[in-house]
Amino acid sequence: MSDVILSVRNLTANVDGNPILKGVNLEIKAGEVHAIMGRNGSGKSTFSKVISGHPDYEVTGGEIIYQGENLLEKEPDERAKKGIFLAFQYPLEIPGVSNLDFLRVAYNARRKYLGLEELDTFDFEEIVEEKLDIVQMNPSFLGRSLNEGFSGGEKKRNEILQMALLEPTLGILDEIDSGLDIDALKIVANGVNQLATPDNAFLVITHYQRLLNYITPDFVHVMYDGRIVISGGKELAHELENKGYDFLDEQALAEV
Ligand SMILES: Nc1ncnc2c1ncn2[C@@H]1O[C@H](COP(=O)(O)OP(=O)(O)OP(=O)(O)O)[C@@H](O)[C@H]1O
Ligand SMILES: [Mg+2]
Repeated sequence: MSDVILSVRNLTANVDGNPILKGVNLEIKAGEVHAIMGRNGSGKSTFSKVISGHPDYEVTGGEIIYQGENLLEKEPDERAKKGIFLAFQYPLEIPGVSNLDFLRVAYNARRKYLGLEELDTFDFEEIVEEKLDIVQMNPSFLGRSLNEGFSGGEKKRNEILQMALLEPTLGILDEIDSGLDIDALKIVANGVNQLATPDNAFLVITHYQRLLNYITPDFVHVMYDGRIVISGGKELAHELENKGYDFLDEQALAEV
């Protein structure tokens, strides 16, 4: 099998009839960590939601090939079962659904898909407790409603806990660093580093070079007005932090 996990070509997508993605190209291979940076509103979250199959986003052109298959034909739940995981910029609160139950349902859906036996609450609890260490989370969070009343940082840790359980092939983290204090940032970044293997890949969306001190990307891309316009190594993140994004406007004007 080829080691390409995700191949995106000329991807265009609309939200409410407005073009947001305007021709995204990106290839991610097994074992790689990619970072996407870019201004507010440039289309980063839209891109991550299109990959996960969010119904509000209408793909109008191009293709996404995931592990050799046309991803755009697959329903969102099938994408998740096939190992695509998206940690949200704004994790949802679901009152009345316990965190533990939610995690178990998601975990069992993936196991069933992989042809493995589903786990009951007791067996599952043991597995979760092992994973809690990765994000240094207190077990009391398992008994609470999903994300309800969790602080911003606790929600982000909970996203990484979910990811640790699901062991995705492609983990997408949308601003996992926003709102984290420095200790939580290290814990979350460490969690990602512990989950990275030569067989999976991560796409990390961030505004800050700081996160990339802890999660070292192999490639950094800049999204501008719905396209990836520059790609480079991790030094590109430093360059952006120094220069800001204004030079992109000049470049865009020069192309007109
Ligand atoms: N559901 C939606 N309805 C209307 N407009 C939307 C919707 N989702 C995204 N957009 C618009 O698409 C554009 C891109 O948004 P997106 O969330 O992808 O940006 P982003 O790069 O993630 O920005 P940020 O850095 O602020 O998170 C924005 O102008 C946004 O208002
Ligand atoms: Mg966003």
